[in-house]
Amino acid sequence: MLQTAINLNSAAALHPAILTAASAPSAGILQTQQLNIHYGLEQRLFDINISIAERQVTAIMGPSGCGKSTLLKSLNRTLELTPGAEVTSGSVYFGELDIYQSDVDARAVRKVIGIIHQRPQPFPMSIEENVLFGVRFHQRLKRSQRQLLAERYLTMAGLWDEVKDRLHQSAHQLSGGQQQRLCLARTLANQPQIILMDEPCSSLDPASTERIEQLVQQLKNDYTIVIVTHNIAQSRRLADQALLMMEGRVIENAPAAQLFANPTTVAGQDFLQGRIG
Ligand SMILES: Nc1ncnc2c1ncn2[C@@H]1O[C@H](COP(=O)(O)OP(=O)(O)O)[C@@H](O)[C@H]1O
Ligand SMILES: [Mg+2]
Repeated sequence: MLQTAINLNSAAALHPAILTAASAPSAGILQTQQLNIHYGLEQRLFDINISIAERQVTAIMGPSGCGKSTLLKSLNRTLELTPGAEVTSGSVYFGELDIYQSDVDARAVRKVIGIIHQRPQPFPMSIEENVLFGVRFHQRLKRSQRQLLAERYLTMAGLWDEVKDRLHQSAHQLSGGQQQRLCLARTLANQPQIILMDEPCSSLDPASTERIEQLVQQLKNDYTIVIVTHNIAQSRRLADQALLMMEGRVIENAPAAQLFANPTTVAGQDFLQGRIG
């Protein structure tokens, strides 16, 4: 029964095309083609063409307001939850599947491509219920089976030891760093292939930040990670690939070591030397 619950929970089960898409050989697991995004009448992203490599950490950097969150949210169709936000042209491919195709279930996309927000957003329920929130039919599992599932994902998120004796207490009693790891456990329970993180450490203290960075390093063995950060030092520590955005455009896009050593644009040099942003 436990296994059944896990399988049914898989987003692939919700949209068969996603299964084949994920296994298709291609340059990157996630790619955008000529992506343009508006908020109402204002265009905010322009002709974005990027390719995200599987099981690597891709960092998206750039000054405040350049479009990092907008781009990130477009990659798993959470952008359309913001009133007025719209992909006006272009495509996002997950393998060979265009996730904006009309018959694709956006909720399934959001499970396979999970997102962690800037501020941790635990739901007003217990720690265990938070972890299992997206797991289909978890309410039908026995208490012991629910706990096993919660243990699995809390362990992956590096939180189990800290919460194992209070799984039924409110998630809001946790510290900010613990809440962010709880949100990670909740995302992992959806069995994603890609995890998007939008400045996941911006509200955390240095110790919690280090903890999240360690987790990113571990998780990249099994998941593709895209992390937005305006912390250049953090991207240097974590990123395999790095993108730099300015005013709604991607102006640098290269292996991280290359981008940090040799930015190709003046704006890129200025940003990396701390003169912009
Ligand atoms: N909900 C919204 N409505 C209108 N404009 C928005 C909205 N969210 C963001 N923007 C605008 O889109 C641009 C990119 O914002 P955002 O993606 O949040 O940037 P970043 O994450 O790099 O700080 C900014 O000019 C911002 O003001
Ligand atoms: Mg942002």
